[in-house]
Amino acid sequence: MADLTFKIFRFDPANDAGPRFDTYTVPAFKKGLTVLESLYYIQDKLDGSLAFRASCREGICGSCAMHINGKYRLACETQVADLKSDSITIRPLGHLKVLRDLVVDMEPFFAKYKYIKPFLMPGDDAPPDRERPQTEGQHSKMIPSIDCILCACCHSSCTVTATDPEYLGPAALLWADRFVLDSRDNALKERLRLVDQLHGIWRCHTIFSCQEVCPKDLDPTGAIADLKRKAIRHRFLGR
Ligand code: SF4
Ligand code: FES
Repeated sequence: MADLTFKIFRFDPANDAGPRFDTYTVPAFKKGLTVLESLYYIQDKLDGSLAFRASCREGICGSCAMHINGKYRLACETQVADLKSDSITIRPLGHLKVLRDLVVDMEPFFAKYKYIKPFLMPGDDAPPDRERPQTEGQHSKMIPSIDCILCACCHSSCTVTATDPEYLGPAALLWADRFVLDSRDNALKERLRLVDQLHGIWRCHTIFSCQEVCPKDLDPTGAIADLKRKAIRHRFLGR
């Protein structure tokens, strides 16, 4: 494989008048080379000032999400060979303020996650001597949501989030549905109150951008549709 050309978004608000792209040449030094390994190569060998986030290197922590050749993806899970191009352009996540280069301020994203109360609200005391049991069938209902790693790829790809910064967004709403679907949770009314509002479920236009980019193949669009159905049922039938 030929050398690779990386064009990377650079911006340090403390020192730069505006953003730019810097270009680096990286040798395709091994089979299976990932975008994240290439970024570490650049930082280590070519330009130590390049800033980006990563931790686990195996698709678990969600911190290496960025815009790579036209799509939001995890840098650690993206092999250069799969991009089928010797030229790779990288931008930071969208709809979030750039702190420096590829590092964005995730606080507004996590504020929405915290807003939906991402914890069990069973409404009774814990059993004194055992966990709260769940059947396999009850657990399988949550499977479409429980693998979310809060990478924010869906948030950045969402066209509604682009125009309404207060929109709760696909990840927070997916998590809201995850607890609604949890047989151990008993706070449906409270959870629907949180999402059945001006900047909640009804702002979703069902465009599927979130579902298309999710690196875990989750279905935030489907989760939002489920919440809409439940909100309507609750409004008309009270349950
Ligand atoms: S739903 Fe998918 S894209 Fe969105 S934060 Fe979770 S893992 Fe990332
Ligand atoms: S480094 Fe953890 S998901 Fe990529």
